Amino acid sequence: MSAEPETGPAVRNEMGTDNGLEMLREEARRAMGAAYAPYSGFKVGAAVETDDGRVYGGCNVENASFSATMCAERVAIGAAVASGARSLRRVYVCSTSDHPVPPCGICRQALSEFGPDLDVISEGAAGAVRNWSLAELLPEQFRLEDHGPEAAL
Ligand code: THU
Repeated sequence: MSAEPETGPAVRNEMGTDNGLEMLREEARRAMGAAYAPYSGFKVGAAVETDDGRVYGGCNVENASFSATMCAERVAIGAAVASGARSLRRVYVCSTSDHPVPPCGICRQALSEFGPDLDVISEGAAGAVRNWSLAELLPEQFRLEDHGPEAAL
């Protein structure tokens, strides 16, 4: 096994910029349609864009043991990472809420692992769109390397 992951097959977007945003939005909306949310009824879709323009979607996946629920953003991150991505530049989120949903705290930390400066775009069901930088949503990312070997037992 080599240390560098292979690039996965899900090359969805090699165009880069503006067309990429529409593709990102469509993948987030497609994924939202697949959401498994029988407990909350709150469906979320997310799509992440890698630094080389690939797009991976995810939806929330709820569980009868509520704490086992996975958010859409982390499912999308998992799909990207499992295909070899290590650097993300944008995430698009959509949900059944009228208002744009910001990623939850756990997802902010999870996103920061692969894109501390990524752009977060969120669209509400009523059409409003909000933009943030992840650095603005998570001003103090936890990074293990900031704490040195002396922090480990
Ligand atoms: N949820 C997400 O998928 N992403 C978020 O950023 C916020 C919350 C999901 C988890 C759960 O299935 C439902 O929304 C209600 O919390």
